[in-house]
Amino acid sequence: MNFREELDPLRPYVPPKSWRMAAEGADENNYAKLTSNELSFGPLPEAETALTEALTRANRYPDSHVSRLREAVADANPGAETSNVLVGNGSSEVIFNVLQLLPIGDVVFGWPSFSMYPTTCAILGMNAREVPLTKNEEFDLEAMFRTVSDETRAVILCNPNNPSGTYHPLDRVREFAKELPENVVLIVDEAYVEFVDDPKYTDSHTLALESPNVVVARTFSKAHGLAGLRVGYGVASKNIADYAERVRFPVSVNLAAQAAATASMLAKEKVEERARFVIRERSRLENAFGDANLDFIPSQGNFIMVRFAASDFEKCGVLVREGEALGYPGWSRVTVGNTEENDRVIGAL
Ligand SMILES: Cc1ncc(COP(=O)(O)O)c(C=O)c1O
Repeated sequence: MNFREELDPLRPYVPPKSWRMAAEGADENNYAKLTSNELSFGPLPEAETALTEALTRANRYPDSHVSRLREAVADANPGAETSNVLVGNGSSEVIFNVLQLLPIGDVVFGWPSFSMYPTTCAILGMNAREVPLTKNEEFDLEAMFRTVSDETRAVILCNPNNPSGTYHPLDRVREFAKELPENVVLIVDEAYVEFVDDPKYTDSHTLALESPNVVVARTFSKAHGLAGLRVGYGVASKNIADYAERVRFPVSVNLAAQAAATASMLAKEKVEERARFVIRERSRLENAFGDANLDFIPSQGNFIMVRFAASDFEKCGVLVREGEALGYPGWSRVTVGNTEENDRVIGAL
């Protein structure tokens, strides 16, 4: 049988250690699981209540248009209407759907970054144009701009970037968006936006409302603590949102995900409170890394890259993402956990 040859370089995702242990039936309960940038707390009580109620209706298909969630997202993003909102099975699907709309060509993004970008490009037959990060581990916006050509269909800006944790201020992102040709779609992947502590980084969705070619992609997997339910959203021009809905797999956002995400979005203040906790704990970890004379990259996400071996963390009951898998051999990406988990991280140093 002949498969498309652009799929040949694709390798199955190497999951973090905690997933591998769970798959093997090993007891991973004694470890602090800080591998995947999840929230250490469960869903908000509001989301749990909505989930319990939704379960009684699980024999029915969900609302295929995801109307209530779109309304909650539009209300939380001033100026956006439901027709500006994209939804998906995680923000991974939102990004996938947007790239699916474009003719075959190049997709430019910084590297190292989120592993889904090159994978999605390969699946869609797009050419991934990876632009190395600067020496400060930031997206190199000048170099990315120079890489844009007549063949470029999209640019992805992961802000803050996973795994480096670095970000660009909103003014700079806006400037970059304005510089790009209008026929190039800019996807600003804001999976970690709730953890940015720059007070000027607010209402970034307006980037998408101002420009016909900008999509802001966000997720319920991180600050909302709903990674297991798989739901994400985007804000974009009505034109992009309309086309993205045409290619989205019908009912890709299941009943439980719709109910929990809507309830969580309506309790946005509580999500912000949890994000503030993560930001405080992130500083505590960064201070501890500094005190231990370890190299680390100051982060705006709910994780920190630190030059300390994953195997040494593991000996102390902490599972982190091995830097090798992310382009940082000898380093670890440590998710900011709860107080007790972060104490364990500090104890390991
Ligand atoms: C930068 C970035 N974007 C998007 C996602 C995708 O999140 P999800 O598909 O769970 O919404 C992740 C998940 O780790 C991420 O790190």
